[in-house]
Amino acid sequence: MYKIAVIPGDGTGPEVVNEGLKVLKAVSKKYGFEYELKNFDFSGKRYLATGKLVDEGDIAELKKYDAIYLGAVGDPDVKPGIIETGVLLKLRFALDQYINLRPVKLYNSAYCPLKDKKPEDIDFVVVRENSEGLYKGLGEFKDKGTKDEVAIQISYNTRKGVERCLRYAFDYTRKRNKKKKLTLCGKTNVLTYAWDLWQRTFNELAKEYPDVTTDYAHVDATTMWFVKNPEWFDVIVTDNIFGDIITDLGAMIQGGMGIAAGGNINPQGVSMFEPIGGSAPKYTGKNVINPLAAICALGMMLDNLGEEKAAAEIERVVIGIVNKDLKSLAAGKMGYSTSEVGDLVVKNL
Ligand code: IPM
Ligand code: MN
Repeated sequence: MYKIAVIPGDGTGPEVVNEGLKVLKAVSKKYGFEYELKNFDFSGKRYLATGKLVDEGDIAELKKYDAIYLGAVGDPDVKPGIIETGVLLKLRFALDQYINLRPVKLYNSAYCPLKDKKPEDIDFVVVRENSEGLYKGLGEFKDKGTKDEVAIQISYNTRKGVERCLRYAFDYTRKRNKKKKLTLCGKTNVLTYAWDLWQRTFNELAKEYPDVTTDYAHVDATTMWFVKNPEWFDVIVTDNIFGDIITDLGAMIQGGMGIAAGGNINPQGVSMFEPIGGSAPKYTGKNVINPLAAICALGMMLDNLGEEKAAAEIERVVIGIVNKDLKSLAAGKMGYSTSEVGDLVVKNL
């Protein structure tokens, strides 16, 4: 019996989570596992009504679950940064979900903005460090508001934090068993403290993984290769901010936010799975948003829980639908409504 915490969140989050839960119900019957759900309202609406975000009591409660299924965070009525820090980053940090795993896989070349790229050319995974770096929130203002103002934002990298992320990436590359190539994406030529530590640790660990081919690319060049030669990549490991940036580009080359999913993973604790597209306020309540990213996130969650067959089945069905049924992966252009896409997935299982 899996205990799953559900955080529908803001905007289109509840709509896509609904479709994911339909699929969960259907696959659980087919693959014979049981689960119980509990809803957690950490939305912007609740914040506006009560002033509440995620507190220590919520964290203690969430630690009792096997996984968290998240819709989206971000409410246009709340000042930017409050929900993001008070809900999403709070959960990632407090639950020590130190890996953000973002597969970039093209299911149909028709949805790729790159010329002549096929599904076999775009199939890689970004392992983003998810607990440190610029996201740590360290820094200060000096002489705020004056003409001499200085704003300092610190990238915080610990040997332990870097090493556990790199180790995860090496193990993941080995387990994935494709090209067995791990690329460190950094900026060693300019950010000479942080990336010196990353590179040194990477080189040390590489000795323990002689079967994994290692490579290095600067982050700016990485964005160029994503567009020019995405087929070069297998697994990419990078820090929090670079991972944030390159995975939005990754989402675009795999067909857009309608299909991009990710997992915030604590290999020893509670992990959280989400479509990476955000709350899409302008589509809220219209039944037009693409739920496939949320359904793929559900697949990642099941894979993480050990229901690999159910996860593979979800991916197989999504690939079929993306190739045979949908007109587009974009909101409002799919040729189907949000709930119809969810029904299609269930029907094809
Ligand atoms: C993401 C998002 C978040 C991030 C925001 C909403 C805080 O962009 O999951 O990539 O920057 O990590
Ligand atoms: Mn992002």
